[in-house]
Amino acid sequence: MKVLLIGNGGREHALAWKLSQSKELSKLYIAPGNPGTAQCGENIDISPTDIPALLEFAQQNKVGLVVVGPEDPLAAGAVDVFEKAGIKAFGPSRAAAQLEADKAFSKQLMRSCSISTAEGRIFDRYDDAKAYIASRDEPVVVKAAGLAKGKGVFVCDDPADGIVIAEKIMCDDMFGSAGNTIIVEDKLLGEEASILAFVDGKNIYIMESSQDHKAIGEGDTGPNTGGMGAYSPAPVVTEKMIKQITREILVPTVDGMNRNDTPYKGILYAGIMATAGGPRVLEFNVRFGDPETQPILMRLKSDLLKVMLAVCDSKLDTINLQWDPRPAVCVVMASGGYPGDYEKGKKISGLEEAGKLKDVVVFHAGTAKQDGDIVTNGGRVLGVTAIGQTIAEAKAKAYEAVDKISFEGAYYRRDIADKAINRKK
Ligand code: AMP
Ligand code: GLY
Repeated sequence: MKVLLIGNGGREHALAWKLSQSKELSKLYIAPGNPGTAQCGENIDISPTDIPALLEFAQQNKVGLVVVGPEDPLAAGAVDVFEKAGIKAFGPSRAAAQLEADKAFSKQLMRSCSISTAEGRIFDRYDDAKAYIASRDEPVVVKAAGLAKGKGVFVCDDPADGIVIAEKIMCDDMFGSAGNTIIVEDKLLGEEASILAFVDGKNIYIMESSQDHKAIGEGDTGPNTGGMGAYSPAPVVTEKMIKQITREILVPTVDGMNRNDTPYKGILYAGIMATAGGPRVLEFNVRFGDPETQPILMRLKSDLLKVMLAVCDSKLDTINLQWDPRPAVCVVMASGGYPGDYEKGKKISGLEEAGKLKDVVVFHAGTAKQDGDIVTNGGRVLGVTAIGQTIAEAKAKAYEAVDKISFEGAYYRRDIADKAINRKK
């Protein structure tokens, strides 16, 4: 089968790497891809949001399955367009993608299904938001309701900062129309985890747990990023917690989406805070996490393409996945300045040497090919991922590879996976 994968991040390199190992695959196209995905298939120069051009390409090249990586094309209805044209597409419909693309929709769904989440209020007028925040003397979390590349959430320990942020989002259009509505919610305390599941409309298959590192700085300090590293499994997620998350979060969400006439297919990603009172939902995403996908897929032994087809055909109940019990760790190497402004076009050296290390895969994210060299081309540049007998060994191998790679201004956290390593038994 020919597959078209849409996207160009580290997540898409991991997806392309795994899909290219499938016995069912005859040809893999990636639109637009990056120099990493070019090692797994053929990159096609079409933007992820140019849905008419993607459809035309898929039809002309007899693509059997389209895999939509990022949230933007999902929210723009890419899956609906391919399915209407009779082409299988992996991911939720436009209506179901609101679960991520509209945090107000998501909050209301959680409320109507009694799913445990932070108490929150939805505002579409700044004056109302300001009055509410001013009445609070506890920390607040202010979120733009629309898509903001993981940067639209602000945890404000002083509510006065929340008012300033609400003004920037709602009045100064910091995120354009994605900030027309905001959510103001209570701050939850605990350790975070990412729970990703395949969902086929009715059946749910939960993948191995993982944990992201959202903050730019070591010790989880500084502003949030798209994610500076991840590991799988996350020991904070116990068997008991998985059962509770399934029963009290995933099943009610999938049922609620069905009742809402927005049936859910694809990846359902629940961002969880493990609070003293049990797991609570921070957010839903409607696609694989980036960088969680890198360590998760390094541990997946089964054929990813088969699972994706089972999701599209609503036959997930016929699938059983095999996982490597060994943990995996991904360290993101970013451009200096990220998540703020940064320069591009810095030559990257050491990629080949790092890639030769056993049990290491260097996933590309913001890279480009220029005059035969690989250069930086984005904020998050590489996801250096390793698998090991223990989480400490996986971490050590990942950093051994990181140490072989260099580019001007390279920045990365040195403490990825420390929460798991230092965990008290
Ligand atoms: P989100 O995109 O909604 O997951 O938010 C991004 C990050 O902001 C999360 O991974 C948390 O680190 C933090 N966050 C979001 N909501 C809350 C909350 N209610 N309490 C504490 N931290 C939060
Ligand atoms: N790693 C966070 C995300 O993919 O949204």
